[in-house]
Amino acid sequence: MGIKDRMKPLILAGKTEINDPSLAIFRFQPVEGQIANFEAGQYFTIGDDVAKPEGVKFVPRPYSISSSPRVRDSVEFYIVKVDGGEFTTHLFNKKIGETLWYMGPKGKFTLNHTKLAHLVFIGTGTGLAPFVSMIRTLKMDGTAKNFTLTLMHGNRTCAELGYLDEMRGYETDPALNFAYLPTVSRPDGDPGWNAAVGRGRVNDTLRFLLGMHKQGKVEPVLPARQSREIFLERMPPGKTAYFLCGNPDMISDAKAALAESKFAPPEEIFSEDYW
Ligand SMILES: Cc1cc2nc3c(=O)[nH]c(=O)nc-3n(C[C@H](O)[C@H](O)[C@H](O)COP(=O)(O)OP(=O)(O)OC[C@H]3O[C@@H](n4cnc5c(N)ncnc54)[C@H](O)[C@@H]3O)c2cc1C
Ligand SMILES: NC(=O)c1ccc[n+]([C@@H]2O[C@H](COP(=O)([O-])OP(=O)(O)OC[C@H]3O[C@@H](n4cnc5c(N)ncnc54)[C@H](OP(=O)(O)O)[C@@H]3O)[C@@H](O)[C@H]2O)c1
Repeated sequence: MGIKDRMKPLILAGKTEINDPSLAIFRFQPVEGQIANFEAGQYFTIGDDVAKPEGVKFVPRPYSISSSPRVRDSVEFYIVKVDGGEFTTHLFNKKIGETLWYMGPKGKFTLNHTKLAHLVFIGTGTGLAPFVSMIRTLKMDGTAKNFTLTLMHGNRTCAELGYLDEMRGYETDPALNFAYLPTVSRPDGDPGWNAAVGRGRVNDTLRFLLGMHKQGKVEPVLPARQSREIFLERMPPGKTAYFLCGNPDMISDAKAALAESKFAPPEEIFSEDYW
């Protein structure tokens, strides 16, 4: 029995590009019944038959779910087309109404591993996806106000800041105590850059908040009208859990910075490496 025999069919129902045909939010509907139950932060494995010069090959890949498990008539993912990527090159050519396959859920990147009420989410690129699911779920459950939520999202340029309007909406939503810190690592020459977005890699933004030297080339600068003091109040040492997702080098540097600064013990740092 191959992996495909253990998977269920999904219909591609929607694809929303984020300013570029290589970055998109995909929505799928189950062929029968509901999407399998999952916890916010988990992932499904999606797969499909991919035509190769040597013949057709079934290619499965894991993707964090960005929709909430409270909505099970469809499922959403935030996916970047990796240059030369075996699966994503195929996925970005799929048409609305076509079928793919999924299995799961899997993964331990979920909020039930901490009892702390101050939560800092740090993601690069599509590593935002599990945090979208978590925030949506806390809001739908009416429990978001029990937490101090801080989201730091790092991208190369402003055009890649997916879910921007939704995140900006949560900043002023009375149902949440939410701070949003978008930052871009290539602001010079970025036509979309404006002072409402920070400068520098997101691990350097964290380093700046922790009072440490940067690792990358771009000097970290917070978005206008945000201050180090405001963020430090939101992340008291020993009372804050950190969730890190995306680029593995960002994750290892953020872990090192948190350990060195003693802001969080290892058991309150949770991570999901994308490769
Ligand atoms: C638990 C988990 C959850 C994931 N969730 C997501 C998600 O929500 N959205 C998403 O876009 N990807 C996600 N990924 C990555 C995804 O599984 C694939 O690795 C990615 O889509 C590339 O597949 P591919 O077949 O096109 O590339 P491949 O031909 O397999 O090439 C893979 C190589 O591309 C690079 N790479 C892989 N993923 C990325 C990435 N996101 N950004 C930059 N470089 C990358 C790495 O160097 C990797 O070795 C997740 C990975 C894991 C392990
Ligand atoms: N719109 C598009 O066409 C498009 C968009 C995005 C990605 N892609 C492709 O998709 C893939 C993924 O790109 P991505 O931008 O999502 O992910 P990425 O390359 O991981 O970049 C996301 C963020 O992580 C930072 N980063 C890179 N290396 C780091 C390190 N060693 N330590 C800390 N931070 C680091 C980047 O900063 P730096 O700027 O300093 O690298 C950027 O701010 C790539 O193959 C890319 O070519 C295409």
